[in-house]
Amino acid sequence: MSQYRIALIVGSLRRDSINKKLAEALVRLAPKEFSFHRCEIGDLPLYNQDDDGNQAPQVKRLKQEVSGADGLLFVTPEYNRSVPGVLKNAIDHASRPYGQSAWAGKPAGVIGASIGSIGTAMSQQHLRNMLAYLDVPTMGQPEAFIHVKDGFFDADGNVASEDSRKFLQGWMDRYVEWVRTHAGEARTG
Ligand code: FNR
Repeated sequence: MSQYRIALIVGSLRRDSINKKLAEALVRLAPKEFSFHRCEIGDLPLYNQDDDGNQAPQVKRLKQEVSGADGLLFVTPEYNRSVPGVLKNAIDHASRPYGQSAWAGKPAGVIGASIGSIGTAMSQQHLRNMLAYLDVPTMGQPEAFIHVKDGFFDADGNVASEDSRKFLQGWMDRYVEWVRTHAGEARTG
């Protein structure tokens, strides 16, 4: 049975992040042959094109983690109707130097949780725009805009309602198929 390594990128650095919790809940819904590694993005320097020829160790680490992955899972909040700056910073870093992007061809899923009723729809749309440019085949359906209210997660961090759990299981099942179908198509450039 093939093993699939997924680079998990959470767009929040907050200790009690609902997106981190959502990511952890999703990982528990994946089949055994899928393993997830959460990429650290909070220690990356601010992107500066002057450093392209001499990338910081943290940037090299991120690029290696992405390059070595069979797929990507982005779980992100929405900040001011877009992605948080830390996520954009990470995306920019691993896309450079020009011609040496780590992202190209890696199948991706995009999901996010918000306390607001549109559930990160704008943030996800902006992220999809970047991923399209970076040649990342991104699952289109089902979309998942998770509106987190009090009680969404139980004390163990599981999704409390059965309906929400079923919905997320369906999302994960489709994501797994997406990665299986598109893994191995990664290109350089
Ligand atoms: C927010 N939040 C927010 N929510 C939303 O639905 N749309 C938005 O545009 C914004 N904008 C925004 C900007 C900034 C700077 C902050 C700090 C927050 C609220 C956001 O959904 C909430 O803080 C979540 O809890 C953030 O996700 P994590 O950090 O808990 O994963």
